[in-house]
Amino acid sequence: MKEYKNILTEIKGRVGIVTLNRPKSYNALNYQLLSELMDSLTSFDKDKSIGAMVITGNEKTFAAGADIIDMVDASPDDMKKSPFIPAFDLIRRIKKPIIAAVSGYCLGGGCELAMSCDLIISSESAVFGQPEINLGIIPGAGGTQRLTRAVGKVIAMEMILNNRTLSAEEAYSFNLINKIYPVEDYLKHTISLAQEIAERAPLAVQAAKEIINQSFDVSLTEGLQNERESFFNLFSSQDQKEGMNAFLDKRDPSWKGD
Ligand code: HXC
Repeated sequence: MKEYKNILTEIKGRVGIVTLNRPKSYNALNYQLLSELMDSLTSFDKDKSIGAMVITGNEKTFAAGADIIDMVDASPDDMKKSPFIPAFDLIRRIKKPIIAAVSGYCLGGGCELAMSCDLIISSESAVFGQPEINLGIIPGAGGTQRLTRAVGKVIAMEMILNNRTLSAEEAYSFNLINKIYPVEDYLKHTISLAQEIAERAPLAVQAAKEIINQSFDVSLTEGLQNERESFFNLFSSQDQKEGMNAFLDKRDPSWKGD
C-alpha cells in the first residue's frame, strides 16, 4: 500500500480506512493532507475488494478545520485558485459509501469533511462546530449548505453566526449524526457498520448512495425519475437475479458486484 505523510491507510475485511494524521496541529487540513485523502479514497473506490470506507482522526480530534497557516495571507484570487475546495468536490464523486468516525474536535473544514461523508458515527466526546466567524470568514466547503440541510435553519444560523458548538448528544438530536458510542469503541463500531454495508450488493449500495445524495440537488419529480431509472437498471445486474433467487431458495445471496 502507498505511503502517505499526513494520513494512514489500512484495509480491514472489505473496508478501506483513512486516518487523518497531523496530531500536533489537531489534524488541520492542509492541501497536502487533502490531496493524500482524495488519492487514497480514489484508489479504494477503484479496488473491487473494498465495499465501503471510513475516515477518522484520533480520540481528541477528528479535524480542527482548514489549516489557518495556509490561508492567513491569501487574497480572494489565491483562494479561488487554491486546490483546497475542489478537493472537497472530489469526495462527491466517490461511488462507495464513506462513514466518518468522529471523536473530539470536528470544526470548520473538519465538520464540512464529516458532512461530506454518507454517515457520521461519533464518540461521546465529539464537538461539532463551524467557528469560521471567529476568523472573519464563513464556511467555504459546504458548511452553510450541508449543515442547514441536516440540522435546519435556526440551529445552522446559531452555529455559523455565533459559533455555537454541538455536543454529540445535541448533534444526534438534530440529525447531524447517526450514532454515538463511548470513546473506547466508536471506531470499532464504525468499522463493523462499514463492513456490514460493504458485504451488501455493491451495485445496489452505490446506486442508493448516488440517488439519495442527488435528492438534495433536484426537484421531487426529477428525483423520483432518477430513482426509477436506477431501480430499472439494477434489473440488468446478476446480483438482482442472485438476490431474488436466493430469497426464494431460502439461502444467503452471494454478491458478484455485477
Ligand atoms: C492551523 C491549527 C488549527 C487550524 C489547531 N491548530 N487548529 N493550526 N489550523 N485550523 C494548531 C494550533 O495552532 C496549535 O499549534 C495546535 O494545533 C493545538 O491547538 P491549541 O489551540 O493550542 O489547542 P487547544 O487550546 O486545545 O484548542 C483546540 C481548538 C483550537 C479549540 C481546536 O485549536 C481552535 O480553535 N482551532 C481553530 C479551529 C478553527 O477556527 N477552525 C476553522 C478553520 S477555517 P501550536 O503550533 O501552537 O502547538 C476553516 C474554513 C474551511 O476550516 C473553509 C474551506 C476552504
